Amino acid sequence: MSRTKELELQYRVLPQADVSKAHIIEAAEYPESEAGSLGNFISRQAAAPHLFLGCYAHAPIGAGGQEQDAPARTSDDEGVLVGYIVSTQSSDDHLTHESMSFHDPKGRSVCIHSVCVAGAYQRRGIASEMLKEYLKHLHSINEGESTLPHRLERVLLITHKERIGLYSGAGFELVGPSEVEHGPELWYEMVYNLAQPNQA
Ligand SMILES: CC(C)(COP(=O)(O)OP(=O)(O)OC[C@H]1O[C@@H](n2cnc3c(N)ncnc32)[C@H](O)[C@@H]1OP(=O)(O)O)[C@@H](O)C(=O)NCCC(=O)NCCS
Repeated sequence: MSRTKELELQYRVLPQADVSKAHIIEAAEYPESEAGSLGNFISRQAAAPHLFLGCYAHAPIGAGGQEQDAPARTSDDEGVLVGYIVSTQSSDDHLTHESMSFHDPKGRSVCIHSVCVAGAYQRRGIASEMLKEYLKHLHSINEGESTLPHRLERVLLITHKERIGLYSGAGFELVGPSEVEHGPELWYEMVYNLAQPNQA
C-alpha cells in the first residue's frame, strides 16, 4: 500500500468485474472523441488482462460533497477504483492506428491506450504514482512473474503537449510528433525503454 495526500492506494490487475467501472471513469474524463468505448475496454481486458492495472483508494477523499462525484465503489474492503492504465501489445516500434487496433501477444511494445484518474481524485499525484507503479509492474512481468513467452522491450504512448511533463517525470522520453491524427490537436509520441533498470 502506498500513500499520496490523504489516501492509501493499492494497485492490482483490474478484475473483469471492474471493467465497466473503469469505463465510467473514462467516459467522464476524456473528451467524447478520445474516450474508448465499453466494447474496447471489454476486449482489451479479455485479450491482455496483465496490462490493465487498477488503482484503488482505501480512504474517503474527505467530507463535503464528494459522494456525488465519487467513482463507483467495489466493496468496503477492496477500496474504490480511482484510476487505471490500460494497454495492449504490438510488434511495431512506434504507435500507429494499426498498432493500437489489436493486441498482438507476441508484441514486444506495450502501447498505452489510457491513463486516467477520476475527477474527484485528480491533482494529488495519483497519475504520476500510477505510471511508476505500472512501469514497476511491467518490469516484474519481465523478471518472470508471469507466463509471457518473451520480454517486453518498450512502452509507447501518445499525448498532447501539455501532458509531456507528466510522462517525462515517470521516465518516458519524447520521440517527437506522432503520425497519429485524431482530433484537431497534435499528438506527441513518448517511449520508456524497459531494458533499463526500474527507476521507480
Ligand atoms: C491527465 C490525468 C491522468 C492526470 O491525473 P492526476 O492524478 O491529476 O495527475 P497528477 O496529480 O499526478 O499530476 C497532474 C497535475 O497535478 C499536479 N499535482 C500533483 N500533485 C498535486 C497536489 N498534491 N496538489 C496540487 N497539484 C498537484 C501535478 O504537478 C500536475 O500538474 P500539471 O497539471 O501542471 O502537469 C487526469 O487529469 C485525467 O485522467 N485526465 C483525463 C484523461 C487524460 O487526459 N489522460 C491523459 C491522456 S495523455
